[in-house]
Amino acid sequence: ALVVRNRMKSLGKWAKAMAIIKELEDKCGTPSAKLRQVADAMDVEMHAGLASEGGSKLKMLISYVDNLPTGGEKGLFYALDLGGTNFRVLRVQLGGSENPVVKPEFKEVSIPPHLMVGSSEALFDFIAAALAKFVATEGEDICLPPGRQRELGFTFSFPVRQLSIASGTLIKWTKGFSIKDTVGQDVVGELKKAMERIGLDMCVAALVNDTVGTLAGGRYNNPDVIAAVILGTGTNAAYVERAHAIPKWHGLLPKSGEMVINMEWGNFRSSHLPLTEYDQSLDADSLNPGEQIFEKLISGMYLGEIVRRVLCRMAEEAGFFGDTVPSKLKIPFILRTPDLSAMHHDTSSDLKVVGSKLKDILEIPNSSLKVRKVIVKLCDIVASRGARLSAAGILGILKKLGRDTIKEGEKQKSVVALDGGLFQHYTKFRNCMESTLQELLGDAYENLSIIHSNDGSGIGAAILAASHSQYLQAEES
Ligand code: GLC
Repeated sequence: ALVVRNRMKSLGKWAKAMAIIKELEDKCGTPSAKLRQVADAMDVEMHAGLASEGGSKLKMLISYVDNLPTGGEKGLFYALDLGGTNFRVLRVQLGGSENPVVKPEFKEVSIPPHLMVGSSEALFDFIAAALAKFVATEGEDICLPPGRQRELGFTFSFPVRQLSIASGTLIKWTKGFSIKDTVGQDVVGELKKAMERIGLDMCVAALVNDTVGTLAGGRYNNPDVIAAVILGTGTNAAYVERAHAIPKWHGLLPKSGEMVINMEWGNFRSSHLPLTEYDQSLDADSLNPGEQIFEKLISGMYLGEIVRRVLCRMAEEAGFFGDTVPSKLKIPFILRTPDLSAMHHDTSSDLKVVGSKLKDILEIPNSSLKVRKVIVKLCDIVASRGARLSAAGILGILKKLGRDTIKEGEKQKSVVALDGGLFQHYTKFRNCMESTLQELLGDAYENLSIIHSNDGSGIGAAILAASHSQYLQAEES
């Protein structure tokens, strides 16, 4: 009788765990009709954000990039790329149209976590020091014309209110950064002060968001690029808008008639978004509650954490991992998106990758195949929702530009440049996003191409520094 009772008890628990998964699956559902509503809402918010400052949750920030690269840019340029978990410095020799990019050189440094929540001075000192060290490695083959200052493109991947192409104030931090004294400051000013403190003589020629850098880098190689999307630690998009369609822009009408807009779509929010209790608690416990809701459903910083929260509930309420809740499972952010991706892509018959992740990260030894299968399913639910929502976001942009349908007699190619770790390394996420676009666009999918713009944001910033170089302007006038 005891054996039977125990079996009943464990069956009851398993059923409870399955009910939690089923409920999650229902709440995370993104049928095409829902995605279309999300895309429509995105389109509406884009209009509202362009109409007036503060008109929408979508900031639709003016980038001051009104002239995208042509491929003819020349010279030696540096870039700094700050925005995710890593920070990069890069040097590139642009050789003009015959010889577009000559050997970019990189150095990647990870940002010590305490600097992400410390003081502005400490963060910028760290960046300037890494830059100075990198500049010192300049080889003899690198030639800067005498008397010429080194110029830099600064990719700063947070919401910035630009004051010009080379200055702008930080609106707020996102993605786990939280340094109070930087908010409201000109980030180029902060960088310049740090460079002065260590005696590094360089000029910041362009301040850009990573999406804007990626768009510029994409356009440098392909004139059909109209938008760029980052799917990485955070998520965001930029696109080329007609200056006439930006009522809140009171400046001079650019010669090109165009302006690149940094949407900051991570902050998009709509009643059509499939939010669950896990998303709500993740948001409430985050550094920026109530903000970046779209980003918290999609991007690499959060996917693993959503899964951890679901597993926690399954462990607590349905004894999913046995009688006790594994203590490691209670640690926020212990499951990272790369771990999720590795488990999700496990093709071995006994799901050994899942088994070893459970053992190594959560200290859960000897998991059963049944349990492992449920975990793969969980990864699929959470990643698919993110991937499908990002496709809906892209559809929103295409709608805004009138490029979501095939127009009679017109073959208009739309190229979207993508970058970011999630897009680059999480194959199932990327495939799901692409197939969702196909599902949503139907025949018009033929006119769309998604390209991977590798390190586009850094190189793009260097290219924008070239096209906004003080020397170039002096030569021209
Ligand atoms: C966050 C930032 C945004 C950036 C994106 C991708 O959403 O606010 O500026 O483009 O992450 O890095």
